[in-house]
Amino acid sequence: MSDNTALTEHDIVHALCAPDAASLYSAARALADDVFGRQVFLRGVVEFANHCRRNCLYCGLRAANTDVERFRLDDEEILHAVSFAAAHGMGTVVLQSGEEAQGDVRRVGALVREIKRRHNVAVTLSLGDYAEDHYRYWRDCGADRYLLKVETTDDALHARMRPGTTVTERLARVETLQRLGYETGSGVISGLPGMTPRILARDILRLSAMGLEMIAVGPFIPHPGTPLGAERAAVDIEQALRATALLRLLNPGANIPATSALDSACPPQDSGTQYPVSDTRLNNQDSAHSPYGKGGREQGLAAGANVVMPSVTPERVRRNYAIYPGKNTVQCSVTEAVRQLKLRLEHAGYQPSDAIGASLSGRFRAADPM
Ligand code: 5AD
Ligand code: SF4
Repeated sequence: MSDNTALTEHDIVHALCAPDAASLYSAARALADDVFGRQVFLRGVVEFANHCRRNCLYCGLRAANTDVERFRLDDEEILHAVSFAAAHGMGTVVLQSGEEAQGDVRRVGALVREIKRRHNVAVTLSLGDYAEDHYRYWRDCGADRYLLKVETTDDALHARMRPGTTVTERLARVETLQRLGYETGSGVISGLPGMTPRILARDILRLSAMGLEMIAVGPFIPHPGTPLGAERAAVDIEQALRATALLRLLNPGANIPATSALDSACPPQDSGTQYPVSDTRLNNQDSAHSPYGKGGREQGLAAGANVVMPSVTPERVRRNYAIYPGKNTVQCSVTEAVRQLKLRLEHAGYQPSDAIGASLSGRFRAADPM
C-alpha cells in the first residue's frame, strides 16, 4: 500500500479537482474493506432540542431564523428514542441539539447516566461549545464520545460563517475533549460559499493531523431561511465524496460517516434529486441491482465511509430539526426509515453492524513511526 500519510496539499487539491475520481474511490473503499470489512456501524441520532444561540450563516436552526418551530423533548421522549435505537441494533446513540443559551448541564448528565444504566450502548454527545468543567462532568457521567465539528479551519472563512467564534477556540475545545478521554470527532462542511479546493485540502490535512477517532464531511446545502439561502451554486456532492475518500486514505482506522447531508443532497430511490447536483458522473456507485440504491449514503460508503447515522428523533418533532433542506423529511415512521436504511445497506453489499464500533485509529497511530 502506498504511504498516504505523505499526501501533500498539492496532491489533495489535485485529487479534488481531477476529471475522474474512480481510482480515488476504489482505493479508499479497499482500505475501508481492509480495516472494517463490509461492516457499517449504525449510530442512532436523537435530536432532542433545536434551540440555538448561534447564528451560523449556513444553518437553518440559527437563532435569527424565526420560521423554526422550536422544541425540547422531555426525558421520557429522549429515553424512548434511545430504547428504540438500542432495540434496532444501534450500538451507539448520539444526543444532539442546537447550542442552548443555558443548556441544562445536570439534566444531560443524568440522561447519560440513565442511558448507560439501561443499555449497553456507547453515548456520543453533540451539543456544541461548553466549558471544560461541563465536558468533564458529562464524561464522569459516562459519556463516551463527543462530536464537535470545526466546519472549516480557515480563519477568515470560519469567522464569516460562524459569527462570534474562532477556529482557535474551536480547535482548543476539540483538544480539551481529547484530553478528557472522549473518543472525539470533528469535521467540515465542503463547498461552503468562499471555500476553495485549497481551503478544503488544508482542512483535510489539519483534521488528519489531530488524531481524531471520527471525521465527517458533508456537502453544503443552502437553506432558504439563512443568509446563504439564495446561493445558486449546485450542491457539490462529488467534492464531499472526494473529501471523504481522501480522509479515509489519511485516516485508515477512523470512523467516517456517510453523512446524512449526502442523502439529503442525493436522495435514494426515485424520489428525484431535490437540488441540482453538480456532477452527474457519479462513478463510484455499487452496481448491485438495488431498488434502494444510488442514494448519497451508498456513495459515501463506496468512497470509504464506514458509519451511518440515522435520525431516531420522534416523528412529532423531527421535521423541525431542519439544519438544511431535505434533513428529516422522510414521510414514513422512524421504524420504517431505519428498516429501509438497513435494506439499502444490505442491497449495496454492506452489513449493518450493531457493534459499539470504537474507532481503530489508535491501532494505526501505534504503528506510526515517530
Ligand atoms: N449544509 C450542510 N451541512 C450543514 N450543517 C449545518 N448547516 C448545514 C448546511 N446548510 C452541518 C454542520 C453542523 C451539523 C449539525 O450540520 O456541519 O455541525
Ligand atoms: Fe446552532 Fe450548530 Fe446550527 Fe450553528 S450549526 S446555528 S451552532 S445548530
